[in-house]
Amino acid sequence: MAAKWKSFKLCFLIPLCAALFQQIWTEAATIKWDENGYILYCPCMGRFGNQADHFLGSLAFAKLLNRTLAVPPWVVYRHHAPPYTNVHVPYSEFFQLEPLSDYHRIVSLEDFMEKLAPKHWPPGQRVAYCFESAAQRSPDRKTCPMKDGNPFGPFWDHIGVEFDKSVLFGGLSFSPYSQSQWIKRFPPSEHSVLALPGAPAQFPVLEEHLGLQRYVVWADRLVQEGEGLISEHITRPYVGIHLRIGSDWQNACKLLQNGEAGPHLMASPQCVGYDRQTALPLTMTMCLPDLAEIRRALKLWVKKVAAQSIYIATDSESYSAELKKTFKNIRVISLRPDTAQVDLYILSQADHFIGNCVSSFSAFVKRDRDIHGRPSSFFGMDYPGRKRKNDEL
Ligand SMILES: *[C@@H]1O[C@H](CO)[C@@H](O)[C@H](O)[C@H]1NC(C)=O
Repeated sequence: MAAKWKSFKLCFLIPLCAALFQQIWTEAATIKWDENGYILYCPCMGRFGNQADHFLGSLAFAKLLNRTLAVPPWVVYRHHAPPYTNVHVPYSEFFQLEPLSDYHRIVSLEDFMEKLAPKHWPPGQRVAYCFESAAQRSPDRKTCPMKDGNPFGPFWDHIGVEFDKSVLFGGLSFSPYSQSQWIKRFPPSEHSVLALPGAPAQFPVLEEHLGLQRYVVWADRLVQEGEGLISEHITRPYVGIHLRIGSDWQNACKLLQNGEAGPHLMASPQCVGYDRQTALPLTMTMCLPDLAEIRRALKLWVKKVAAQSIYIATDSESYSAELKKTFKNIRVISLRPDTAQVDLYILSQADHFIGNCVSSFSAFVKRDRDIHGRPSSFFGMDYPGRKRKNDEL
């Protein structure tokens, strides 16, 4: 490198300099191949909240196997607005990549494909790894269903990957109990890239992985956009609420109503506790708060923090008109940003947050706020993790 710099200094005015500079630049930007291998996966289950839960577990799994995690883009379902299809948004659009490295080695999937795959994972040598049970769905029962359906096919197509071979496994889990088996079964010398059809993680995120949220740090661009909107529209202090009340959600909560679901329903462990044996009851109000409950909870927290504004993030209606009537001297705002992550940011910065126990979108906000010591509660549960007074009677 030193010799090149020397000739670079001598070569000014010569067109070759540009080429030399390019070469020095490329060498500096080269990403080194990790001999301990990689984990690739498709964030193919659910929308942002679920993908974020899975991301934390996958990060822990990569560390468990001491492999570099190829951080996938977020799959955003833009079916209601242009381009009316799945959009693959690089992780770094919403969050910074660098802080993840404080926990474990990572590379963005985009960089992996561009800078490492051509040499180390070339077409023709791309192996898919999946559970035997997953391969049962394929016609020959021996092929991993990597690209079957949406969002699977579009995801791997987006990064330009065809799979050439499948390796099936059984009797392994993503927990620390399986660590040595994974390493014995798939030594990086023979299996350098473990490409998986889904996240090597559980949903919802395990209690022991909640703290990994601290490595998920907002991208500067998003902070700027969020702060801009807060200073333009919102007077502090403000209470942020997440309304998850749309028709798909009403259907999900019906499972609770007719007894098909117990206290553990999607992200509810954040409220009722992670231990199934000791879980608190999950009520219909926690799953699907009605306007009366939204008013009740807001009255409590608006008073407690002396709020000047209420910010509403919603999946459908915002109840702004109704809430404006109830809270006459308080600004009631719902911006419905095009990017849901802007709502997440505004909620994460609120003086108090009221979320939905069952929603992983709310769970993301709650984890982010916990890391920064900001208070949160839920509809139907003012003090998370504690029984309500009337339950104890
Ligand atoms: C983990 O992987 C890194 C990078 O390949 C390597 O330097 C380190 O020795 C590995 N650690 C263990 C415990 O194998």
